[in-house]
Amino acid sequence: MRPSASDMSLTNGRGAADDEIIIRARDVTVRFGEKTILEDLSLDVRRGEILGFVGPSGSGKSVLLRTILGLNQKQSGTIEIFGIDYETASDAERLAVERRWGVLFQHGALFSSLTVLENIEVPMREYLDLSPALMHELARLKIDLVGLAPDAADKFPSELSGGMIKRAALARALALDPDIVFLDEPTSGLDPIGAADFDQLIMTLRDTLGLSVYMVTHDLDSLFQACDRIAVLGDRKVLVEGPLSRMLDFDHPWVNSYFHGKRARTIAAPDHVASLVEGAR
Ligand SMILES: Nc1ncnc2c1ncn2[C@@H]1O[C@H](COP(=O)(O)OP(=O)(O)O)[C@@H](O)[C@H]1O
Ligand SMILES: [Mg+2]
Repeated sequence: MRPSASDMSLTNGRGAADDEIIIRARDVTVRFGEKTILEDLSLDVRRGEILGFVGPSGSGKSVLLRTILGLNQKQSGTIEIFGIDYETASDAERLAVERRWGVLFQHGALFSSLTVLENIEVPMREYLDLSPALMHELARLKIDLVGLAPDAADKFPSELSGGMIKRAALARALALDPDIVFLDEPTSGLDPIGAADFDQLIMTLRDTLGLSVYMVTHDLDSLFQACDRIAVLGDRKVLVEGPLSRMLDFDHPWVNSYFHGKRARTIAAPDHVASLVEGAR
């Protein structure tokens, strides 16, 4: 049986030798004009993990995500995804990489003029050569996979609740059966129950599909319950990455106030936190 996220935190995850690194970012620097957003940032994402990516608002979490996806220029450094440097890759290699990732962006999750079914078919039309009937069938499978009712297929985004929109956007991110999904603040704007349900769905998909998940979030519940490892962005780089126990033990003002703040303490009972901190030593 697969260990739960909290077990893995206690045991420091799987052994490093078993882990296949599917994203390897090294010394990445991104500037907009005079403003340096990321500087010499390095980060690994491992196959099959749910990586929670946190940091203060405006620190560059979305910028890094867009840089990994090749949507922002970087000034220096390298990013390999599935062993391929997207920036220097051939068109064929880029296409192959794009077919292996799915993205749920922070804003503008769905096309408002298309139904849910049509939204999910957008990446299929772009990357696959399938008959309309087969695309409809696949799109309906994705709708089922994310826990939406079959009748959601013909609804427009304006007819859906916030939680349903996130699920539909996730279904679209899964359209090409990706190896990794990038989720930018997927539970922001959802009520706590909706957010917890979404986290549960992500964990189930990871377990059943072997999906790797890169999740930008500021949701402490997600970090405590769903994430195998966490990376914290601060001072333009990844300050610390590792299991929750590592975050709890890390000496940095922002990391400290975030993971030991009042909100964090209401999620993790003090003795639970104490045992994690103990386990990290
Ligand atoms: N295309 C852009 N041009 C100029 N500045 C940008 C651009 N995209 C993001 N920024 C700036 O980069 C910083 C980090 O933004 P962002 O990655 O969106 O933060 P967050 O960590 O909240 O996701 C912000 O100051 C933002 O204004
Ligand atoms: Mg952002």
